[in-house]
Amino acid sequence: MDLTHRPRRLRQDRVRGLVSETTLEPADFIAPVFVDATTDERRPIETMPGHERVPIDEAVARVEEVLETGVEAVMLFGIPESKDSEGSRAWAEDGVVQEATRRIATETDAYVITDVCLCEYTDHGHCGPLEEELRGEDGSHEHGPECDPIQTVDNDATLEALDRIAVSHAEAGADMIAPSGMMDGMVAAIRAGLDREGFEHVPIMSYAAKYESAFYGPFRDAADGAPAFGDRRHYQMDPANAREAMREVRLDAQQGADVLMVKPALPYLDIVSDLRREFDHPIAAYNVSGEYAMLHAASEKGWLDLEAVAHESLLSIKRAGADLILTYFAEDVAERLSDRR
Ligand code: PBG
Repeated sequence: MDLTHRPRRLRQDRVRGLVSETTLEPADFIAPVFVDATTDERRPIETMPGHERVPIDEAVARVEEVLETGVEAVMLFGIPESKDSEGSRAWAEDGVVQEATRRIATETDAYVITDVCLCEYTDHGHCGPLEEELRGEDGSHEHGPECDPIQTVDNDATLEALDRIAVSHAEAGADMIAPSGMMDGMVAAIRAGLDREGFEHVPIMSYAAKYESAFYGPFRDAADGAPAFGDRRHYQMDPANAREAMREVRLDAQQGADVLMVKPALPYLDIVSDLRREFDHPIAAYNVSGEYAMLHAASEKGWLDLEAVAHESLLSIKRAGADLILTYFAEDVAERLSDRR
């Protein structure tokens, strides 16, 4: 028996740290924050224990809580006071994200990233204004009495809206813009808009490979953004596809995306790792609401140790190749990392 090689030699306590390949830092995390224009008190989000929707007046206080844990960046989501078919509150100068951003940017040192999408702002819950498409039962485009109109998001009309939203966020003081709608050409449209208005220095983090995932369920309750009919499979990616992700992400890189994101994270670590090899951009991964909720649910039942599985999840995302991690665990894990020092 040849035991020249004994990997266990390096697993002894005093050497494990020296040979550890991956480390987590509070500065790796981005904490999602929900600002709600329909409430004047903090409201817990039932499906995401420990998270709340906060009124605009509490946005600064909420972000300060995040900063205290050592996390330096937040991703802002807004729940508007009203919705319409176009999602016009998304680009309003006095909109919920614009107001919150203005205050957070002037009163705190947080790095403010804003989610740019229309689904929280449209009354139908889709990620852009709708157009009607006539399709035969066989999916053909022939128009005739046997055709049912189906509604789908009007890609090019949405691009104009995304340009306006991104500019309104930058005007309010956003440090980085993060489009999440998976419209074709969205990065180019936003880059052009920002440059036109003098925001050449504001980077874009594209939700570049965003899948049509059932793991967004708890978020849709949190942000009131569930589609009123149908689903998002006409614009978000098919979970079956990996090669398509490379093509989709390459387009965003060509259009000038500064950071490339994969979403969700854990079920798509193969994509994170492919991107790490293929691109030299910073890679972000979004550890989504369902990934958070399932660990909490199992730990409430006493089936998993929450602290341990949260840490292991984030470590695996980093190991797969992510530089930045958007996660609802940001504050908890960052606090524990700082305690250990
Ligand atoms: C909006 C958006 C979604 C998430 C982030 N931005 C929801 C969706 O596409 O339905 C999901 C975040 C999460 O589940 O944590 N387009």
